[in-house]
Amino acid sequence: MNEQQIQLVQETFARARRLGPHVAATFYAELMTIDPSIRAMFKGDMVVQGEKLMNMLGAVVDGLRAPQSILPTACALAVKHLDYGVEAKHYAMVGTALLRTLKHELGQNFTQEMREAWGAAYQFLADAMIAAAYGSTARPSAGPAA
Ligand code: HEM
Repeated sequence: MNEQQIQLVQETFARARRLGPHVAATFYAELMTIDPSIRAMFKGDMVVQGEKLMNMLGAVVDGLRAPQSILPTACALAVKHLDYGVEAKHYAMVGTALLRTLKHELGQNFTQEMREAWGAAYQFLADAMIAAAYGSTARPSAGPAA
């Protein structure tokens, strides 16, 4: 990712967060539309879960210029996701749901450049998480599809 992409991702995320907690709800709705079987993996309160997700994404977005500051936490989180029944193929679905959420929430303000910057940021994160949890051979499925 170049500096301009990092700035775009940080600005977009700040804008999405200002829209409030319903952004996380939009994300889960998009994710369950892609694969309804994912719903059964979530056992807790989805508002609390949404807040955890947004906080973690916020930490990743803040740390894009210093990946070594975020990757150990992200990789430990990926290993924890094994206990939730998460498989490598699910990461691409999450990436797609994330891009659709940003498009849905930001509308015309979500430009092609932003989409590409988010795609690169998510791919970077998902590749690292997948490699940590499943080994690097699972990499091709990491990228978002929309
Ligand atoms: C960039 C990728 C991801 C991030 C940043 C992320 C973030 C998180 C966070 C912060 C938690 C809470 C952990 C805790 O309570 O200690 C969590 C839980 C969870 N995540 Fe993810 N996650 C990601 C990918 C995925 C994927 C690909 C799936 C599969 C569909 C998934 C499904 C779940 C489930 C089922 C839980 C547990 C919910 C519960 O306890 O009810 N996550 N995630």
